[in-house]
Amino acid sequence: MADAAARLLAGNLVAFPTETVYGLGADACNGQAVKRIYEVKGRPTDHPLIVHIASMDSMRDWAGDINEYAIALAREFWPGPMTLIVKRSELAADFITGGQDTVGIRVPDHALALGLLEDAQKMGIKGIAAPSANRFGQVSPTTAAAVIEELGEYLHADDLVLDGGACTVGVESTIIDCTGDIPRILRPGAISDEMIAHSTGLEVIRTYRFIDDGAGIVWINKVEDVRVSGSLENHYSPAAKVYLDQPPQSGQGFIALADIPTPDGVIRLAAPSNNEEFARMLYVALREADLQGLSEVVVMQPIGPGIAVAICDRLVRAANGR
Ligand code: TXA
Ligand code: MG
Repeated sequence: MADAAARLLAGNLVAFPTETVYGLGADACNGQAVKRIYEVKGRPTDHPLIVHIASMDSMRDWAGDINEYAIALAREFWPGPMTLIVKRSELAADFITGGQDTVGIRVPDHALALGLLEDAQKMGIKGIAAPSANRFGQVSPTTAAAVIEELGEYLHADDLVLDGGACTVGVESTIIDCTGDIPRILRPGAISDEMIAHSTGLEVIRTYRFIDDGAGIVWINKVEDVRVSGSLENHYSPAAKVYLDQPPQSGQGFIALADIPTPDGVIRLAAPSNNEEFARMLYVALREADLQGLSEVVVMQPIGPGIAVAICDRLVRAANGR
């Protein structure tokens, strides 16, 4: 951990596990190091980064005014799979926020991530900027091997990838805009709408919408006014073409809950027994499709509130292709 923190201090990149997905980290106050994140990811520089902190106490370093309900959410769900968007402090430079006057912060719930954040803090690092450790637009990595597959060729000898095993949540954090009077959910995740409403006692605004078009397919409306790269219509996409909610054909990959059988000749990539397991296996299974060289994958979307909303959100974008 001390070695990894020292590398961050020296301006190198350290990829690390969180409970959601692996992140590609840099010292959030080092503009040169942060610039490398964008280069390694191949991501446009106006897309803001989440600053990861060791505990709620460091929130004040990065935030200006903080709403009461944001404090309540932080108390209840940190460390955890939730990112809060708040007014930024002077510490949150344009190279973090993409020039916006807000900043995203999160305390991840993973022993390695917290260990790294604590050791980095002892060395004077105030936060670790980290997007998901994948090339722009592609599937987020949930294992160290997947990070190396994605980014290995772009990393330097002094960068590091920490291996903390497979991520337990498997899809990215819930992003909540806390700058208004009531919470606005920009990206659904494991902290659900219901949990946020219950914790704050407030109505929540959803910036995504599901429409049943009659054929059972669910679409999401893009929100034009927020710059969340994960809200682009096509994102989270494997090389294989993703189809939703249709009978799989021979030779196609197939991802569905365990009680849905696999037709003859179809290549079953995952058979999760519940929605939590679905989230955990989804990105692994989409990567497996590419490793096996499959050109098409059919996914039967899980139904329900909670994490199913996040899974469907990612699947609809994955199905829109690269
Ligand atoms: O679970 C996660 O959130 C993972 C782990 C590593 O923490 N991180 C992650 O980062 O998913 P990334 O960069 O792949 O996605 C974060 C999203 C981006 O779409 C970014 O545009 C948005 O958060 N974001 C960051 N700061 C923002 C801000 N100030 N306002 C609006 N959106 C913001
Ligand atoms: Mg990402």
